[in-house]
Amino acid sequence: MSEVTIKDKRFRIFIPEAEILGRVKTVADRMNQDLAGKNPLLLAVLNGSFMFAADLMRYLTIPCEISFVKLASYQGIASTGEIKEVIGLNEDITDRPVVVVEDIIDTGATMKRMLETLGTRRPASIDICTLLLKPGKLKVPLDIKYTAIEIPNDFIVGYGLDYDQQGRNLRDIYTLVEE
Ligand code: IMP
Ligand code: MG
Repeated sequence: MSEVTIKDKRFRIFIPEAEILGRVKTVADRMNQDLAGKNPLLLAVLNGSFMFAADLMRYLTIPCEISFVKLASYQGIASTGEIKEVIGLNEDITDRPVVVVEDIIDTGATMKRMLETLGTRRPASIDICTLLLKPGKLKVPLDIKYTAIEIPNDFIVGYGLDYDQQGRNLRDIYTLVEE
């Protein structure tokens, strides 16, 4: 499928599945080296990161654990700037190395909020791991240790990312076609 229509918008293929998986494996390989013997806790930010988190974890060969938090700041194709915590963290993360797993970092507001919340719970360390980064849109300084793919500012869907809750099931990543 080179083009898809979701609701009122057209999208064209941008990053094929095979390339996504290659990049995910590259990040996982780095984590396998950096976090060996540390038993990291992956903290995947729902909903968007569920597919990435699953593939990332399958490429990890070191002992590791996973848990989930749910945050939301997007409505349609624009960030609302206001972040709601929908499902909070139950795990005790004290003295544990935490890796926050995100689908995409856009303005960085969501990640900043995550780091503030997690920081008060005294983890041993917090690393950021994101599938996608839009460097051109980043508004807050973030130390992003693991980035699988850098992309331009355009709106994308697929591989877990949505447009108005649709398109998460697409295996490839698609970019918005401006009409
Ligand atoms: P931020 O707080 O502006 O960095 O936005 C981060 C969140 O917005 C991500 O976790 C996504 O859920 C969502 N988001 C940002 N850009 C896109 C996009 O291009 N497509 C779909 N969702 C996006
Ligand atoms: Mg997200």
